[in-house]
Amino acid sequence: MRIDIISVLPELIESPFQASILKRAITKGLVEVHFHNLRDYSTNKHKNVDDYQFGGGAGMVMSVEPIDKCITALKAEREYDEIIYMTPDGETLNQQMANGMSMLKNIIILCGHYKGVDQRVRDHFITKEISIGDYVLSGGELGAAILCDAIIRLVPGVLSNETSALTDSFQDNLLAPPIYTRPAEYKGWKVPDILLSGNFAAIDKWREDKAYEHTKNRRPDLLDRE
Ligand code: ADE
Repeated sequence: MRIDIISVLPELIESPFQASILKRAITKGLVEVHFHNLRDYSTNKHKNVDDYQFGGGAGMVMSVEPIDKCITALKAEREYDEIIYMTPDGETLNQQMANGMSMLKNIIILCGHYKGVDQRVRDHFITKEISIGDYVLSGGELGAAILCDAIIRLVPGVLSNETSALTDSFQDNLLAPPIYTRPAEYKGWKVPDILLSGNFAAIDKWREDKAYEHTKNRRPDLLDRE
């Protein structure tokens, strides 16, 4: 999978890719991530990439031209499955969306800044708009990092134990059951006996029941999802 991230502040998003699972995915050659500084596509002598809003109003708007130049240059090199714009008014990211996107070959992620992008960018280039939640960030970069993390860990071969992604919270619309490690007793706080029993069928059933109970208590809305 190849991900091209377009931003006015690429340095804001580079570090999550330099550690842990994302770094390993890149080192193993399973994922390629390329950062593009929008200012490199500005034809303006001050390298501006934004301008005042037509009609007045507070806040600058990201101009169509540098974004057009950057996306057009990328599209000339390869075909993209999705051109994603990070924005608080996009579709709220969830695990099902991450699962679907982890199968794609090439994607572009455009990070918004200031008031956002000129609507013509959204109308003519963007194929998917994603929000990471109902709150407003200073820019799309942190959202893009979260989106990439959620997708990349699902790319086949990235997690050493493939089943560990399948048992994550939200897969099958259930939150994960409680987990424990050694010691079996600490300050009198005991690990449930069933987990020490060696009866794996009974353990699976216990985990299923706990996942259901936990979801019913915390996120009953998930149980109604398709
Ligand atoms: N940019 C600003 N706020 C955002 C959000 N909630 N999700 C994605 N991109 C954003």
